[in-house]
Amino acid sequence: MAIFLDTSKIKEIQKYHKMGIIRGVTTNPTIMFKDGITGGLGGIKKQTIKIAQLIAPYPVSVEVTTNDPQDMVKQAREFAKWAENVVVKITIHGPNGELDNMGVIHDLETKYDVRVNVTAMMSAQQCLLAAMAGASYISLFGGRVNNMGYNVCDEIVKLRQVLDLQDLDAKIIVASTREILNVIEWLEAGAHIVTVLPNLLEGMLVHPYSKETVRMFLDDAVKL
Ligand code: E4P
Repeated sequence: MAIFLDTSKIKEIQKYHKMGIIRGVTTNPTIMFKDGITGGLGGIKKQTIKIAQLIAPYPVSVEVTTNDPQDMVKQAREFAKWAENVVVKITIHGPNGELDNMGVIHDLETKYDVRVNVTAMMSAQQCLLAAMAGASYISLFGGRVNNMGYNVCDEIVKLRQVLDLQDLDAKIIVASTREILNVIEWLEAGAHIVTVLPNLLEGMLVHPYSKETVRMFLDDAVKL
C-alpha cells in the first residue's frame, strides 16, 4: 500500500519526500502545464530528471505527448533513458478510441524493457486488459468515475480480486483524487497505490482538534 504525489512541483515533492510519506510521483501534461513547466519536450525532460533524482529509487510517471503509435514508442524509449526510475504513461486508447495503444504498451514492456503506467482509465475492465497487455501500473481515475455517478470503490474491489486471482503483477494506482476521504477509502477497497494532490495530503495530516490539543500541552508545559 502506498501514496504517490500527483504533482510536478519540486517544492511539494521535497516537502513530503522528506517526511517519508510518499513512494512515488505521478505527472501528466495537464499537471505540468498548470505547474508552469514550459519548453515542450525539453522542459518535460528537465523537470522529470529533477524529480527522478529527488525521489530515487521511487518511480516518477511521465506521459508521452503524442498519440501516433511509432512516436509513442520512440518517446517512451527516450524518456526511459532519462533515469532508471522513470515510468512512461500511455493512455488506454486514443482520443477517438484508437486501439494501437495496447500494442504499444505490450511492446514497451516486453520488447523494450520500459515500465508503463496505463492511464486515463475509467473502469475495472479497461484496467484488466491493460494489465493483461503487460503494464506495470494501471491508473484508474477515481474522481472522474465518481463524477460520472458511479462509486469507484466497486471497480477497485472487482479489479483487485481479478488481478489477484489471475496472478497479474500490475499495480493499481487510483488517481484523480478529489477529497481527503478518497485516500483511505480507495486503499481500503484494494488499490495498491493512491496518487494524491499535495493540498489533500496536508488536509489528511492537519486536524483542528489536534492543533488545539497541542496548544494545550504547550501552554501547560510553560505553567509546570
Ligand atoms: C494521475 O496519474 C492522473 O493523471 C491525475 O490524477 C488525473 O487527475 P484529474 O482527473 O484531476 O485530471
